[in-house]
Amino acid sequence: MTKTIFVINGPNLNALGKREPGIYGAKTLADIETDCREAARRLGYEIEFRQSNHEGDLVDWLHEAGDKAVGVALNPGAYGHTSIALHDAIRAIGVPVVELHLSNIHARESFRHTTRIAPVATGVICGFGPSSYTLAITALAELAS
Ligand code: DQA
Repeated sequence: MTKTIFVINGPNLNALGKREPGIYGAKTLADIETDCREAARRLGYEIEFRQSNHEGDLVDWLHEAGDKAVGVALNPGAYGHTSIALHDAIRAIGVPVVELHLSNIHARESFRHTTRIAPVATGVICGFGPSSYTLAITALAELAS
C-alpha cells in the first residue's frame, strides 16, 4: 500500500504567483503541488495536497490526516501566528507535523515571529521558498521510514 503525506495549505496561499512575488516568489500553488508530488514519488510516497482560506477546514484535514497519513507538511499561513484551534488539532493527532513557511518568518515583521504551531510541531522549516515544501516532505519520509 502506498503511504500518504498530507500537504495542507492555509489562507492566501491560493494566490501564490501573483501575491507579493518579491516575498513569496513566482511559483503558483499548482507549481508547488507538482514539485511536492515529484519529491514524494522519488521517496516512495503519495501526496494529498489541499488548500483552504478557512480555519475549520484546516482543523478537519488535520484530523483526517491523523487517520490516513504518515505525516503532515503544514503551511498554516497567517493562522500559524494566531490559531489555538490548529495548535489543539495537532496535539489531537498522532502523526508528525512539520510546520513550513516559504519566507523566513523570523526575518520579517515581529507579529510573524510567534508561531502557535512550532511548540507542537515535530519541526519547523522556513525561508527556503518552494523548497521549504520538498524539505518538509523529505523530513517526513525519513521520520516514517
Ligand atoms: C507564510 C508566512 C506567513 O507569515 C504569512 O501570513 C503567509 C505565508 C509563508 O509561507 O511564508 O501567508 O506562511
